[in-house]
Amino acid sequence: MSSANKYMNIISLILRSLGYLLIALIVISSTYLISMSGIYHTPTTFLSSSNYVSPSNKILIVGGTRGVGLEIVRTLQDRGEDVTAMVRSTSNVKKLNQLGVKQVIADALIKKQVQAIFSQNNYGTVISTLGTSAKDLPARQNFIQSMIYGEVKMDPNKRPDFIGNRNIIDSAKASGANRFILITVIGTGQSHDALPPLARRGHKDVVAQKEKAENHLRASGLAFTIIRPGGFSNGQSSGKAKLTEDHLAFSYIARVDVANLAIETLGNDESIGKTFNAYDSDMLHLYRIFMD
Ligand SMILES: NC(=O)c1ccc[n+]([C@@H]2O[C@H](COP(=O)([O-])OP(=O)(O)OC[C@H]3O[C@@H](n4cnc5c(N)ncnc54)[C@H](OP(=O)(O)O)[C@@H]3O)[C@@H](O)[C@H]2O)c1
Repeated sequence: MSSANKYMNIISLILRSLGYLLIALIVISSTYLISMSGIYHTPTTFLSSSNYVSPSNKILIVGGTRGVGLEIVRTLQDRGEDVTAMVRSTSNVKKLNQLGVKQVIADALIKKQVQAIFSQNNYGTVISTLGTSAKDLPARQNFIQSMIYGEVKMDPNKRPDFIGNRNIIDSAKASGANRFILITVIGTGQSHDALPPLARRGHKDVVAQKEKAENHLRASGLAFTIIRPGGFSNGQSSGKAKLTEDHLAFSYIARVDVANLAIETLGNDESIGKTFNAYDSDMLHLYRIFMD
């Protein structure tokens, strides 16, 4: 065989191998995306949407420094409600300051601090979006690492998902609050099977904490609504987000839509004492969270 032919054979072998690699990558990533989607179950019953009704009392938002909590603060403030955000002394409150919203300082993990802010103010309505802040995790990890290794282990007593929410719920109850909205996550309780199997490992620890918080709220005697969303986008509202008691429903959802759904439940007595999955038929696929 001439040396020219030898080179041709080597080049053709390399090209074929690259082709197989590309096909394998496309198959693996498509399988991954499909398995992480909400296409396997379509809910048919939803909480009827209702007009906003003011709770006509003081509203405390816990977790309002960013994300869903900040959207809730912004919208309620725009509606002219008497809103206060509970922040930590270490929180970045730049955005809350820009909104000119009232703030009280308490670390949700420190019971005495939480009790103090409730005893000094008579909040009638409490909305908690408390979640473990990335800055509080023992080591930064990215999404892919969490899928492979599971979430970084963290002492449950140092994360607010249960202990922090428990302190808020107990103080809200003791101080006479009459309404409590809690944001948790799909994967909790009866919604375990709705969470795509590949996402379960990475969310195991946090889901267990959120579940305890949900159970504590149910047992509190407060007029509660629990909302479980799937993965968040920071995009605009799709206008399609709804609440369903079908616990097998799964989708991604914009933070602003979770905020709107939570606010809508304030005036909807049908939502009291119920636990919902947040579902957006426009956001069934993982790639949607990167699009807006
Ligand atoms: N990310 C998702 O895709 C996803 C999906 C489903 C459900 N969720 C859940 O939805 C909720 C909102 O998530 P998000 O991503 O919009 O916001 P986030 O980044 O989880 O915000 C967490 C909030 O909790 C506050 N916080 C944390 N520890 C606290 C403590 N010890 N005392 C007082 N405040 C404390 C944070 O304040 P600092 O500014 O002081 O840290 C922040 O305001 C969370 O419960 C989250 O677990 C998230």
